[in-house]
Amino acid sequence: MNLNLHETDTPRYIERVKKYNEGKNKYATVITLGCQQNEADSEKIKAMARDMGYTLTDKAELCDLIVVNTCAIREHAEQKALSIVGNFKALRRENPDLVVGVCGCMAAEPHVAEKIKKSYHHVSFTLEPSMLHRFPELVCRTLLDRRRSFVLGLDEGDVVEGMGSVRLSSHKAWVSIMYGCNNFCSYCIVPYVRGRERSRKSEDILAECRELVGLGYKEITLLGQNVNSYRADISFPELLRRVAGIPGDFIVRFMTSHPKDASDELIAVFGDYSGKIAPSFHLPLQSGSDPILKAMNRTYNRQRYLDTVRKIREAVPDVALTSDIIVGFPGETDEDFEATLDILRTVRFDMVFSFNYSIREGTRAAGMQNQVPEQVKKERMTRLLDMQCEISREINDTHLGKTERVIVDAVEKKDGAVLYNGRTSQNKLVHFTSSGCKIGDFVKVKITRAGAFDLFGEMEEI
Ligand code: SAH
Ligand code: SF4
Ligand code: F3S
Repeated sequence: MNLNLHETDTPRYIERVKKYNEGKNKYATVITLGCQQNEADSEKIKAMARDMGYTLTDKAELCDLIVVNTCAIREHAEQKALSIVGNFKALRRENPDLVVGVCGCMAAEPHVAEKIKKSYHHVSFTLEPSMLHRFPELVCRTLLDRRRSFVLGLDEGDVVEGMGSVRLSSHKAWVSIMYGCNNFCSYCIVPYVRGRERSRKSEDILAECRELVGLGYKEITLLGQNVNSYRADISFPELLRRVAGIPGDFIVRFMTSHPKDASDELIAVFGDYSGKIAPSFHLPLQSGSDPILKAMNRTYNRQRYLDTVRKIREAVPDVALTSDIIVGFPGETDEDFEATLDILRTVRFDMVFSFNYSIREGTRAAGMQNQVPEQVKKERMTRLLDMQCEISREINDTHLGKTERVIVDAVEKKDGAVLYNGRTSQNKLVHFTSSGCKIGDFVKVKITRAGAFDLFGEMEEI
């Protein structure tokens, strides 16, 4: 269901906590793990914390409210989150009024919520992502009712407008346009922890984008687990066209696209608005082998993926293509893995994010018999990384001597010298010298050196 925050009980809880906190000078922090969805959610959690009277800080040791926004995508991510949560035990001992909450995808796993309830007594609540708007209620229950809460169970989730956002950046903004996932790729936990797909209304998204452009934001990234599965009053290509059509000096990105929904219409809009829509396309392949893609439930095959890549390149010849690969999915043979390497050699992605397959409890692949030994995954991963590193370096070398339009993201000090960094329109990281520029500016940078993962250059004076 699409709701506004005012139609829920949340404003009442915000008021109660705010009253309780009055004159007490309270601080809050939100620690974010995982993907851009979590970053966007954390910005909403921060807005609600601010509305409840907390001052936001990065220093956990000062805080009266600590929220850990967790990721469940691989085992390593879960271990990291639990270790961070565990570290706050000592702070809680010093400050019995400290509220520690665990949000994000791990909080939606019943066995994790149970473990936290039983073994992490310093944690006051867990809250799954599909119920983010109930965050103030849980803080309120902890503070006023002295009750621990472990909310679980809403599979569907609502779309709740009006939560506000305290944005990390003042020039780049995330705009979530859809939530959840219906695809149930056999290795993936996301559909279990983020619920079913649900999309925001186009008018709400467009109003948010117009406001951001009015505030001077230079880059808007439309976000969704499967951003191109967006389905509301209008289609995703139409939404993209309308966002790109907002007047102003800004660029649009979108992620992550599922290959099955990379339609001809979407590719046509991508081509028609090149310049406004940044020339980068993240299109997770996962595997180059048809039997593995089938076992993964990805619903496309090798040939269809290659056709999509060809169409994208025809529409936008200077597009930077990036992808995700899983190494060592159950049953992956040497031959299957060679098929993946073969696609990487054929497509020549600008960059590939590769992950060793990690068993996720409750998913279909977790029960598959033919798990690949860790040592084999390791060896395959090394081969993949070596090969991709060379391809990325060769592609980046072709940028040498060229001038790129870059958004300035940060100032960095390296060996006593001041450098800036930012992203080219293809979303490549570039470090550069400048005699003067501001974070958030569009500048022209001449590329003088290239590595596999980043570029180096000098700002051209205008
Ligand atoms: N919705 C996106 C990405 C989701 S998660 C998509 O469908 O492409 C980001 C990446 O994590 C995935 O693309 C996949 O490569 C990786 N991933 C997901 N589950 C994994 C698992 N169990 N083990 C290893 N990598 C995984
Ligand atoms: Fe996971 Fe597949 Fe959904 Fe992506 S599309 S979030 S990989 S289930
Ligand atoms: Fe992790 Fe959840 Fe994102 S599992 S990758 S934070 S959707």
